[in-house]
Amino acid sequence: MKNILTYILFLFMIVALYGAAFASAADEPAGKKVFVDSKCGACHAVSSAKLETKSKKPASDLSSVGATKKADFINKLLSGQEKIDGKAHKKFTGSNEDLKKLVDWLGTLKAKK
Ligand code: HEC
Repeated sequence: MKNILTYILFLFMIVALYGAAFASAADEPAGKKVFVDSKCGACHAVSSAKLETKSKKPASDLSSVGATKKADFINKLLSGQEKIDGKAHKKFTGSNEDLKKLVDWLGTLKAKK
């Protein structure tokens, strides 16, 4: 009898551990996925979200961009309606829906340096 209980407890723990692993993967913000898929990381790191860049001359780390830039500005920058120091940014070529997810996520990045 004791063996069966131990066995059931063991199974229960395995299920719980798998559940936890899947839950944390699903918790990944949608905008972060868009960022990675859109290869923004070719130029930008987001160190607060554990994203590195391999660029030798990286653009700014976006860890606190949500604290310094308005969502509206980021949206326009990525759709070619705003510039930084007179320079247009590489245009975001994904869907409007993905752009919104991306901008929403960037807006949450408020790490203190
Ligand atoms: C080819 C390189 C390159 C790629 C790819 C790139 N960026 Fe940029 N980005 C820059 C440069 C250069 C700047 C302006 C200077 C700076 O902030 O470093 C900039 C600025 C920004 C800014 C404003 C940062 C600030 O604090 O002023 C945001 C937000 C941004 N990029 C988001 C993105 C997103 C999102 C993507 C992916 C869709 C992306 N970038 C892809 C080069 C790039």
